[in-house]
Amino acid sequence: MSFEHFTRRSSASPPTVCVVSGDDAAPEVMRPTVAILRALAPDIRFVEALCGREAEARYSTTFPEETRAAIDNADCTLFGASGGPSRPILWYLRWGKMTYSNIRPVRWYPGYQSPMLHSERIDYVIVRDNLEGLYPPREGDIAELHTLASSSTWWQTPPVDTMGAYAVRVSTDEQMQRVAIAACELALQRQAGGYPGRVTLGAKYSILPRTDGRLRSIVRDTVREYPTLSYQEYLIDDLGRRIIAAPETLDVVVLSNEHGDILADVASGSIGGLGLSPSACYGENYAYFEPVHGSAPDLVGKGIINPTAMLLSGAMLLDYLGYNEHAQNLREAIAQVYQEGKVLPVDQGGRASTEEFVSAVQALCAIVRV
Ligand code: NAD
Ligand code: IPM
Ligand code: MN
Repeated sequence: MSFEHFTRRSSASPPTVCVVSGDDAAPEVMRPTVAILRALAPDIRFVEALCGREAEARYSTTFPEETRAAIDNADCTLFGASGGPSRPILWYLRWGKMTYSNIRPVRWYPGYQSPMLHSERIDYVIVRDNLEGLYPPREGDIAELHTLASSSTWWQTPPVDTMGAYAVRVSTDEQMQRVAIAACELALQRQAGGYPGRVTLGAKYSILPRTDGRLRSIVRDTVREYPTLSYQEYLIDDLGRRIIAAPETLDVVVLSNEHGDILADVASGSIGGLGLSPSACYGENYAYFEPVHGSAPDLVGKGIINPTAMLLSGAMLLDYLGYNEHAQNLREAIAQVYQEGKVLPVDQGGRASTEEFVSAVQALCAIVRV
């Protein structure tokens, strides 16, 4: 029934999860998240792979062969965040494993410290191209542009002796098509749960007809193949405004890699901050799960980094592995802790440490299980 890339293909059980903690403060949210996942689903095997500085000290490389093998041998990976050293691993999880769609839910729960007037209206999902567009970087010297863009008019190509650099954006039909399909399948799944079945494209098709214009046609034509879904489109700058002014009109939002990167953080700000935003990256044969936020170097060692984004990414992982009740259990426990408002992380106006918050969640998970 469900879109096969959102669930694990292999039937081998019990499943194995590779854990890559990442850099800076990321291990501080990963440690308690893995502990809670182990307690919730004791039959899942969690294999911790070395990364970053620790890997470098032991193997003289930040991405040892052992870590690559651990990722390959697992059903999926839980990834903290990269502050630099773990970036080769992140690249492998994306382009090595071809995890083409990045799903970033944007949902406000009572208790989240949103700056919005009507935060209860925020409940949509960003589907971001995880492989193409402006990332990975393909940059060069501006002089090369004169051979590349020979047909451009004078105002599109700088004078020959100008110093500078350029970046190339790549969009293949295959990738745009599969991201569009992932968005439609997600909208369909949500529609079964009462959402409107609306796919929204945000892009700069007015100015970039060959790339964003092509994305526009592909997404529009793909949605047409799903008779119950509706399609709407906005120029990306206007969509940015709508994320603030009219989030209730959004259901599933399709964005290019760089637009999705930026607007996912904006959307996260609208619900209360990066500590709250999970994500999942799906490919045909692999998936990995990571928060939207980075390695929060400013929080290292303080014990106050909010683990909610990491925990909710863990819930998405449980869903991928077919542990849907466990995932729901975890999500409900988190929601209840926020609703009660007694044990809140510092970024949400509370005084609880990372560990104290996770303990409060874990206590509720245990109760729900009984
Ligand atoms: P960041 O997301 O790490 O932090 C931005 C701000 O949000 C900081 O003030 C930080 O303290 C706060 N924040 C982030 N996560 C939080 C949490 N869980 N709880 C409470 N507050 C939180 O972004 P940045 O500072 O721009 O980047 C730091 C590093 O992370 C950079 O090296 C960047 O490239 C990297 N990064 C990696 C990923 C990834 O691995 N997927 C994602 C984003 C950024
Ligand atoms: C994210 C991050 C990454 C991205 C960086 C670290 C490459 O910002 O996952 O949102 O832009 O994809
Ligand atoms: Mn980002």
